[in-house]
Amino acid sequence: MILKILQDGDPILRLIAPEVVEFPVELAELARDMTETMHAAKGIGIAAPQVGRSLRVIVTGLDGPKAPAIVMVNPYITRAQDWQRSLEGCLSVPKERWGQAVSRRKRIVVHYRNLAGEPKTLKAHTLHAACIQHEIDHLNGILFTDYVHPLRQPPPG
Ligand code: CO
Repeated sequence: MILKILQDGDPILRLIAPEVVEFPVELAELARDMTETMHAAKGIGIAAPQVGRSLRVIVTGLDGPKAPAIVMVNPYITRAQDWQRSLEGCLSVPKERWGQAVSRRKRIVVHYRNLAGEPKTLKAHTLHAACIQHEIDHLNGILFTDYVHPLRQPPPG
């Protein structure tokens, strides 16, 4: 089921999302709906607060709908090396504000639980690393546009 994606200004996007403590079948359903919603919007990542669920769940899918997406529950980064700067967008931000450069760590190690509650570790770099950091930001109420100083931006409209 394709879900509605909340837009910047919605207070749910600004909450610190709580950790998942149980892994019922509804969690797998949410992850499936998030994946479908991400693909339908042609995104490469999505976080549960973006579909109105304040929970620490993210999905990444850099290779489109034909490849399996990665679902991460309670993700956290334990190692980060080097820096990169890339132009970002977000399904919760109007396209006119996409394309702003954000600095992120280039190589990360992320720990999370899968939908069965099993602990997993993943090494990610470049675009996938930036994507995971962007999605974890969503779990902490942060949007990529927060990193861009307003006085450095052209006036809106
Ligand atoms: Co986003």
